[in-house]
Amino acid sequence: MRAVEFEEYGGPEVLRVVETQVPEPGPGQVSIDVAYTGVNFADLKARSEGYRVPGLPFVPGLEVSGRIRAVGAGVEGLTVGQEVAALTEGGAYADVTVADAVTVFPLPAGVDLRTGATLPTVLPTAYALLHTVGRLQPGETVLVQGAAGGVGTVLGQLAKAAGAGTVYGVVSAAAKAEYAAEQGYDEVFVGSFTDEVRAATDGRGVDLALDPVGGDTLRGSLASLAPFGRLVSYGNAGGAEPWTVGQPELYPTGLSVAGFSILGLARTAPAALREIAQKAFRTVVDGTVSLPVTAEFPLKDAPEAHRLMGSRTSTGKLLLTVAD
Ligand SMILES: NC(=O)c1ccc[n+]([C@@H]2O[C@H](COP(=O)([O-])OP(=O)(O)OC[C@H]3O[C@@H](n4cnc5c(N)ncnc54)[C@H](OP(=O)(O)O)[C@@H]3O)[C@@H](O)[C@H]2O)c1
Repeated sequence: MRAVEFEEYGGPEVLRVVETQVPEPGPGQVSIDVAYTGVNFADLKARSEGYRVPGLPFVPGLEVSGRIRAVGAGVEGLTVGQEVAALTEGGAYADVTVADAVTVFPLPAGVDLRTGATLPTVLPTAYALLHTVGRLQPGETVLVQGAAGGVGTVLGQLAKAAGAGTVYGVVSAAAKAEYAAEQGYDEVFVGSFTDEVRAATDGRGVDLALDPVGGDTLRGSLASLAPFGRLVSYGNAGGAEPWTVGQPELYPTGLSVAGFSILGLARTAPAALREIAQKAFRTVVDGTVSLPVTAEFPLKDAPEAHRLMGSRTSTGKLLLTVAD
């Protein structure tokens, strides 16, 4: 079978198609004949700096749709041939991949394989950020960095559907602001945002800020909170040093800072992740959320997909088409 792997860290050019053995599922796992693979920013981080890479060579990829090929010992409720969407721990840029059964989801009725590949990472992440960790209340104001990307697209729609007040987005280019405005964002800032948020909220700030960028952007998100506001950090797209926040920033206005990792949750509390994912998938089935696939590449062109996402010009969701 084909897989796309890298043997060293670097730019998109280190991704190469290789012929390799078909993986067999271990106990509690299934193997999947992959139809589509979703591209995530975490794949770029794996390739460029080894984010969650246990060793080289490594096949990236965290989410797929496809049909179950084989079922490992002890797996119940999943059958060969069944159409599923799955979260994986790498290995999804391939004709066949293996996933823990607990993070394999039968495709909901009415959801096709192409849409299925967009669901496993982005949907549960956005749902958990707003509800489980962010504890959004109706009427509250929200600030989202990377508003036009995969997670950002879902956050705008989900926040409005949950009854949020004004939802602000931040993007790096005007073209992305137009796209974000179509995804539920009431106002979108291009580049700088701290003064803009204060002005837009009559000096109060926002109730909930969601930050996948880190560094100065995270500090700006923290500085944009209203009294008792919450900040959830869920990524480090900017590549800054790990952040620290302490008493001086938090005490005066009663702020909270939290974090979230879907891959961490898959390891530490898979049942909790499954519950969140099932609630999140329902929002696609009932039409609350749609996640546009804006670019699709054959598996062998994975480097092109990485170039596009790395260029910061992509919006929505990028897919690799794996099956013929
Ligand atoms: N913790 C979790 O469980 C979890 C799960 C999924 C995703 N994430 C994180 O959420 C973010 C979005 O992920 P995604 O897969 O949906 O990707 P994406 O949003 O489609 O693409 C990457 C995003 O990062 C933003 N960005 C900001 N600074 C950047 C930089 N220095 N270089 C490149 N991009 C930069 C880009 O927006 P602008 O160009 O408009 O700034 C772009 O929206 C990533 O940081 C990812 O690691 C976290």
